[in-house]
Amino acid sequence: MLNKKFAEDIQEGLSKRQKSIPFIYFYDERGSWLFQQIMQLPEYYLPACEVSILEEHKMSMLNHFSSKKKAFNLIDLGAGDASKTKTLVQYYHENEVKFTYTPVDLSTSILSALSESLSAAYPELNYRALNKDYWEALDLLKQNTNKGERKVVLFLGANIGNFTKDQSIEFLSTLKSYLNPGDLVMIGFDLKKRPEIIYKAYRDSKGITAAFNLNLLHRINQELGGNFKPNYFRFYPYYNPQTGELMSHLVSLKKQVVQIESLEMNVEFEQWESIHTEISKKYTINEIETLASEAGFAVKEHFQDTKNYFVDTLLQV
Ligand code: AVJ
Repeated sequence: MLNKKFAEDIQEGLSKRQKSIPFIYFYDERGSWLFQQIMQLPEYYLPACEVSILEEHKMSMLNHFSSKKKAFNLIDLGAGDASKTKTLVQYYHENEVKFTYTPVDLSTSILSALSESLSAAYPELNYRALNKDYWEALDLLKQNTNKGERKVVLFLGANIGNFTKDQSIEFLSTLKSYLNPGDLVMIGFDLKKRPEIIYKAYRDSKGITAAFNLNLLHRINQELGGNFKPNYFRFYPYYNPQTGELMSHLVSLKKQVVQIESLEMNVEFEQWESIHTEISKKYTINEIETLASEAGFAVKEHFQDTKNYFVDTLLQV
């Protein structure tokens, strides 16, 4: 079946003067698997930093999440395999905390693997996996929440880094409209740091990040009848320390024309022309505070790792 939205977005993105492909299309089955491999790379420091933050601060986080041992709903947007959130779930399990765990993810296979591993490890865990997009999931939760039960929304892994500043404000404002006063949001931000460390996290030595980017072209070939030759393109990430943006591009190594059958489209590439694939924005604490206030949230606490590479910021409605 042809995915209509995918077709439209690719058509639009490849018709622009600066060609681009929306980052959401990284995560088909193969792309999600490649991203799991990225998270295992020693250069890709983000997940290890965030796990260390959750380990170190799980107790004070819980004190914010649950006052007087009241039950709460832990909503994990883009949970994936929940490799990070499991730190919290494990801790709550050991301490008999009353909570519901609600992982939300678009990938059916990753979510069902997560459900299996959760029910094996924590047979008593009260959880409800939602195979939906963020807003559908929040809409459902808005209607079905017990009166007075606090929502704690997690948006971990520096996923917010994919958004521009305006998109982040819009995302947070929309998120806020699904929440009640007192509800909490905890967001993982990758922080600005020595530029070479950031650059190396994307230009990894095994080329997995390159494969992750080139997978977009394979996907267009498979789903839309394209004839991209991925080895005629080269993955090129670069970091701008001024804006904090790590930009990812696929650069055409030669002048070429690519046909995409289902779109009845010929895409012309000049030599060295690029397709923009992703922004991975790095923040300062100041920028995070500005973002929070522009979106109408109060900052409760910044939880950082010992190297100050990463922060989980707790916000309140
Ligand atoms: C999942 C958006 C946080 O931008 O660092 C990893 C995705 N891209 N390597 C990131 C990604 C290339 C990742 N996020």
